[in-house]
Amino acid sequence: MFLKTMALPLLMAAGAQSASAATTDPLRFDAGNFTRQSLTMPDGEVIDYKAYEGIFYVTNVEDSTYQTLNIYVPERMAQLERVPILMRTYVGGYAASTAKSPSPADATGRALKEGYVVCIPGSRGNNSTIERDGKTIYTGTAPRGLLDLKAAVRYLRHNDALIPGDSEMIFTDGTSAGGAMSSLLGATGNAREYEPMLKAMGAADARDDVFAAICYCPITDLNHADMEYEWLYGCTNTGVRHLDEAQIRISQELAAECPAYIDSLGLLDAEGNAVNSSNYKEYLKGFLIESAHRALQEGCEIPDSIGFTFYQDKSGPMGGAPRRGQAAGKGARPDGATMADGREAPSFGPGNAPRFNKSSDFVTGLDLDRYLAYVASVTPLKTPPAFDQMGVLIPTPSPENKVFANEQGEAANFTDFSLRHRLDDPTARLDADMVKRVELMNPMNFIGTDRSDVSRHWFIRHGAKDRDTSFLVPINLATRLRNTGHDVNFALPWNRPHSGDYNLDDLFSWIALTIRK
Ligand code: DHB
Repeated sequence: MFLKTMALPLLMAAGAQSASAATTDPLRFDAGNFTRQSLTMPDGEVIDYKAYEGIFYVTNVEDSTYQTLNIYVPERMAQLERVPILMRTYVGGYAASTAKSPSPADATGRALKEGYVVCIPGSRGNNSTIERDGKTIYTGTAPRGLLDLKAAVRYLRHNDALIPGDSEMIFTDGTSAGGAMSSLLGATGNAREYEPMLKAMGAADARDDVFAAICYCPITDLNHADMEYEWLYGCTNTGVRHLDEAQIRISQELAAECPAYIDSLGLLDAEGNAVNSSNYKEYLKGFLIESAHRALQEGCEIPDSIGFTFYQDKSGPMGGAPRRGQAAGKGARPDGATMADGREAPSFGPGNAPRFNKSSDFVTGLDLDRYLAYVASVTPLKTPPAFDQMGVLIPTPSPENKVFANEQGEAANFTDFSLRHRLDDPTARLDADMVKRVELMNPMNFIGTDRSDVSRHWFIRHGAKDRDTSFLVPINLATRLRNTGHDVNFALPWNRPHSGDYNLDDLFSWIALTIRK
């Protein structure tokens, strides 16, 4: 990776448009510059599409390895007045990500099959570097990766008349750190704070709000994620987690900060009741019980040992008492993600709101601590602090410490808590520049404010056994969005670990519904 000072000439040369068009508008999409490609879906269907690849989406290209996007246009476009564009980021671990090709195994292939346009932007991240004046420069420190993705959105808008698909119907999609990026794209549309940086990059002068955000296990709310993790999983510290004394102390200190944060959010449940630190665990249990309940309906088996209790209905229309934790009438399997016939189990019903009825009301309660110990037994938990870990108990920087690095690649703390512990100075505070960077990387700061244009539609998933971040993170995001009038389809899908782009039938039926709203 090196600075290609040739980047702009390359950009100019790449297009077949007239020289005058290229000089007047270097960000003009060249509709004639494509190759024909195809992919074979799992069912053998071949999808043909035009591929427009390696397009620079800013004029001041700093890192030519990453600041490009690819656009894929199906030969058989959906017969819709407004064809959506799926913008899929492959960011993981807050690292840099190149513009990729569509895959039959994820939402990109499926989108092409549906006749939708696909855009896959690259973006800089915590490991992207260039050489400048003999020095290594880190190009992707926060919020630069997000700026790249916003610039990609602007490119699509800027070229709306030339690129097939409707740039007013962009669905962003990502998993984990990519889910966080998708949530940021959804939450920070047109926020003025990013404007000077986007301008300096040579991003198109266009809006960057998006229609919908699809967020799988978003690793976000980074500056509260440590306290949210310990407040939830502290119950396992002396059990399955096996923490030592020093770790337990840090865990307890962090957990103690969480109630004030929860209470500051002013969240409401679906009935309009206040959700606060005293009843939050009941609120969380509702989502987990709903997840288990659906799994039972779909024919999955839930062992007695992981904390759920079940009602055994002897008279219900399901035909007698089901075995504990097993739905009657369907071939149950221990793998909650798979149906008896091998199909993927759908993770949500059409309503997406907790619904219990007599015929299927088998899950009656949950011992949360027991369930959390089960989650921790499947995948060992992170040690405290789970995210801003550098220098607190171990010297090693996390991916998040690295994304908040400086241009020399020196990782940094992004919470006062960890900074104070690292420096052993109870008065230490993040400097104003870091406070701003952290703020610009947290979607919670924008939702329900007038700082940005927030996507109207959201699809948020976090696996019911995903321990990469606390359940509080996606729940708070979804709840704040719901409380501020957004259309939110949210679930903790049963038996799912940290992963994304699953249950594509569900996702694409939601997309089909959403574009008609
Ligand atoms: C990812 C996972 C993590 O646990 C994390 O802290 C950051 C990013 C990821 O998979 O992208």
